[in-house]
Amino acid sequence: MCAVRVAVRVTVTLVVVLSQVSCSSSGLRKVSQILGFDWKNCGQPDAPAVLKTLTVSPDPISIPGELTAAASGSTSVELSAPLALNVTLEKEVAGFWVKIPCLEELGSCHYSDACDVLNQLIPPGQDCPEPLHTYGLPCRCPFKAGSYSLPQSDFYLPYMDLPYWLTNGNYRVQGVLGSQGKELGCLKIALSLHSD
Ligand SMILES: *[C@@H]1O[C@H](CO)[C@@H](O)[C@H](O)[C@H]1NC(C)=O
Repeated sequence: MCAVRVAVRVTVTLVVVLSQVSCSSSGLRKVSQILGFDWKNCGQPDAPAVLKTLTVSPDPISIPGELTAAASGSTSVELSAPLALNVTLEKEVAGFWVKIPCLEELGSCHYSDACDVLNQLIPPGQDCPEPLHTYGLPCRCPFKAGSYSLPQSDFYLPYMDLPYWLTNGNYRVQGVLGSQGKELGCLKIALSLHSD
């Protein structure tokens, strides 16, 4: 009787453990392709910060895989802390664009200081990641007024776990940068995600 009870308990524990394992592994999906990457500025014609060029290839981009990108942009004002960033992420569902809420710092989120986010990703004192370092491009605030350009560079995209809610489909992202109540720039990106 006692042995049966222990066996039952072990079985229940195993089932619980196994179901948690399978839940967490199905909760993180492997994205294999990004298709139809496109972008545009969406700020006022006289916005201080603009992206001038951005080319990304190949299409589709595979993950993991190689990606080639080049970019240039300019800002007529220094971009310094605090730099507000409002991100809006939308997904196309049955022909309509549906806003995805902010979930665990991803989705449609408001960041009160993008400089702070950059400092967390790349701690001050540390070299900027390649290829920025090679070209002497900054990766933390302040970004001085001026023009910036990244020559064509290769990047390797490693396997990444994306949140479970980032399912196959068409997405568009808008980012609005502001400081002291003034809009500094706006960028819109469109892409499709496909994973088998
Ligand atoms: C971000 O959104 C908040 C709330 O809607 C708004 O008050 C703020 O002005 C926005 N900031 C930018 C930079 O768009």
